[in-house]
Amino acid sequence: MDLSLSINGDSVTVDVPPNTTLAQLIRDELHMTGTHVGCDTTQCGACTVLLDGEAVKACNLLALQCADRDVTTIEGLKGENGGMHPVQEAFKDLHGLQCGFCTPGMVMSIVDLCNRVPDANEQQIREQLDGNYCRCTGYQNIVRAVQQAQQNLRT
Ligand code: FES
Ligand code: FES
Repeated sequence: MDLSLSINGDSVTVDVPPNTTLAQLIRDELHMTGTHVGCDTTQCGACTVLLDGEAVKACNLLALQCADRDVTTIEGLKGENGGMHPVQEAFKDLHGLQCGFCTPGMVMSIVDLCNRVPDANEQQIREQLDGNYCRCTGYQNIVRAVQQAQQNLRT
C-alpha cells in the first residue's frame, strides 16, 4: 500500500505491506538504523521515536498508522549549528551510556520529556524512563545527564 509521511522533515512515499511496523519501515525500508529493535514487543524502548513530537515505540505501531504524520528519529535530532542535540551532548559528557544500544531510544524519550516538562524533577525523569531499559549503566548517569540537559536547555 502507498504510504506518505514525513521523516526527519523529509516527505517520503513508500509502498509497504499493511503489516509493516513503523520500526521496520524506518530500519528496513528507509535504512535509518539508529532506531534499534531490542524486544519487538513494546517493552525495552530501544525503538522509541517521536510521532508528531510525542515519544512512541516504533515496534508497536503499524507504519500505515503514521500516514501524513511527522516522525523524528535519532538521525533527525540536531542542536544549534547542526551539532549534537543538548540531550545527546549531556549523555556524552556525563557518561550516560556504555554499549549504546539503548541510547537512541533513551534520547528520544528524554527529548519528549524536555519538550513537555522542561523542569522535570528526578522522579519525573525516572518515570519517563520507565519504558526504556538499559542493561549497562545502572541509570544513575542517565538521570544526571537528563538533569544536565534540562539545565543546558534552559540557559
Ligand atoms: Fe520496541 Fe523493544 S523494540 S520496545
Ligand atoms: Fe548498554 Fe544501555 S548503554 S543497554
